[in-house]
Amino acid sequence: MQRLTNRQIVLGITGGIAAYKSAELTRLLKGAGADVQVVMTPAAVEFITPLTLQALSGNPVHLHLLDPEAEAGMGHIELAKWADMILIAPASADFMARLNSGHGNDLLSTLCLATEAPVVLAPAMNQAMWRDPQTQANATSLQTKGIRLLGPGVGEQACGDTGPGRMLDPLDIASQAAALFDRGLLTGKRVVITAGPTREALDPVRYISNHSSGKMGYALAEAAIDAGAQVTLISGPVNLPAPQRCQRVMVESAEQMLAASLENIDQCDIFIASAAVADYRPSAVAEHKLKKGKEEIMELHLIKNPDIVATVAALKNKPFTVGFAAETRDVVHYAQDKLTRKKLDLIIANDVSRSDIGFNSDDNAVTVVSHDQVQPLPLCSKRQLAAKLIDIIAAKQPR
Ligand code: PMT
Repeated sequence: MQRLTNRQIVLGITGGIAAYKSAELTRLLKGAGADVQVVMTPAAVEFITPLTLQALSGNPVHLHLLDPEAEAGMGHIELAKWADMILIAPASADFMARLNSGHGNDLLSTLCLATEAPVVLAPAMNQAMWRDPQTQANATSLQTKGIRLLGPGVGEQACGDTGPGRMLDPLDIASQAAALFDRGLLTGKRVVITAGPTREALDPVRYISNHSSGKMGYALAEAAIDAGAQVTLISGPVNLPAPQRCQRVMVESAEQMLAASLENIDQCDIFIASAAVADYRPSAVAEHKLKKGKEEIMELHLIKNPDIVATVAALKNKPFTVGFAAETRDVVHYAQDKLTRKKLDLIIANDVSRSDIGFNSDDNAVTVVSHDQVQPLPLCSKRQLAAKLIDIIAAKQPR
């Protein structure tokens, strides 16, 4: 269920008596940390009120395909793009038939056509309807198209019949949906990720630092966890909660980040250095707060910090080592230089001259540079980008 944390789930509800269970499902998904947008078909509204689902999801419920108000806010295409998963529970026989035929005559079926996210159905219907050859053919065809079916279960039905067709219990649906986020690409791998800025103290109250928010590194940690890895996140000071199912080590300075990295490097398979580490630190840290003097100019004496990623890449049993290169010009060229100089396996070139990407933004666009390839990855959220980067890194691991 922890895999649902921060997931964006469209919960589709179609017309069926099991729709009452969707209230509990919404509560469970929200409780597991997912952001839930509920979409109801006209028939679903006959079984449960949108108000109940609005209260439980904390979001307005989406009912109509052609809703000018919704289109001005989160329209159907935005909703289709927003979703990490479209989970339809209950999925009626009629909805399965329409989905299988590619209909787009209501909001929910249109979303299924427009989304690139996985579509998951929890069928619910009378046992005879489920057994009907056409429903069976639809179920098989939908699965062939990559749509996942959860259930249905077998047992007593609301109509008094007994047999297959019951919607699974909300807890089973939520846990099976959560399990679908584990893509298993890094199962059994240990991943260490550095994230955020470092702070290099001048005195007890002042430091040198940078604008790194940690968002990129934390998104990578989440993506690696979702891929099944055991993750240690070595983080500079940031205002982000620790990802679940991850060991987080908080540090301040570059020297502390190096020490924490080396302490966690045993049996590490992949090291990803996304932290913005200060290249220099004050040569001495004043014991007391530095006082303002008469001088107009104050000179700081700085010494070079150890290079964490290069130190890791130079280890005898080095892990697959990935660096980031934050550059404001000649981005790919400088990244290639760092790749070779620091003896890395891969480097992610990040243009930090743009205010819409890089430091402290929610989005990013990068170029993945290896020794034989240059691969641009276009603008998207740091979360989506992290998933792509983890896919690329995972593909380079020995199986
Ligand atoms: O944290 P966010 O706000 O989400 O922003 C993300 C980011 C812009 C910080 C991130 O995407 C990024 O580009 N991180 C690398 C920043 C950086 O310090 O780049 P660099 O080119 O100076 O360093 C090259 C590589 O060496 C990096 O992997 C860095 O972690 C590493 N390094 C640098 C200096 C040092 N002393 N030790 C290091 O390990």
